Amino acid sequence: MRIIKGDGPVPCDLFLCGERPGIEEYRAGRGFVGPAGKELWARIWRVLRLSRSNFYVTNLVKTFSAAPPTKEEILRDAPLLHAELLRVKPRIIVTIGYHAVRALLPQFEGVNGAHFHGLAFPFTYGRLQPRTAAVVPIVHASAALRQPNRYQNQLTDDLRAV
Ligand code: URA
Repeated sequence: MRIIKGDGPVPCDLFLCGERPGIEEYRAGRGFVGPAGKELWARIWRVLRLSRSNFYVTNLVKTFSAAPPTKEEILRDAPLLHAELLRVKPRIIVTIGYHAVRALLPQFEGVNGAHFHGLAFPFTYGRLQPRTAAVVPIVHASAALRQPNRYQNQLTDDLRAV
């Protein structure tokens, strides 16, 4: 089973966490290089004038499958994500997708994203030297690709919050 690790500057203020690598990410060995990634980076540039090199990029679950992350996979890879947070020491964590936000902010289990996308929530990590970051959940770029009328403007608004 191939692990697709996060990549980017360390330390880094901006930490982007998706759900799991897609097939293109699996082939390339890094997150957000497929169609959703292209849409995301293009929009981040347009809205924030930032590029991929400004972000540490990772996923909640590190292995490829076409299925959504399971509870077991999320638990299995949680120590890897935690280790990344400790190394990268981000100040802003941008989560993309249903499972990524709920793994960090479990209060949103079962809550529709429309209630929290584009808002910032405090998140503390690191037991010995606790640090607090703002988690900003954004709508998934693949939703913006699939239903542009519904989600493209929302993605832009969510990124403004970042
Ligand atoms: N979607 C994700 O959640 N992660 C990726 O790396 C690519 C697409």
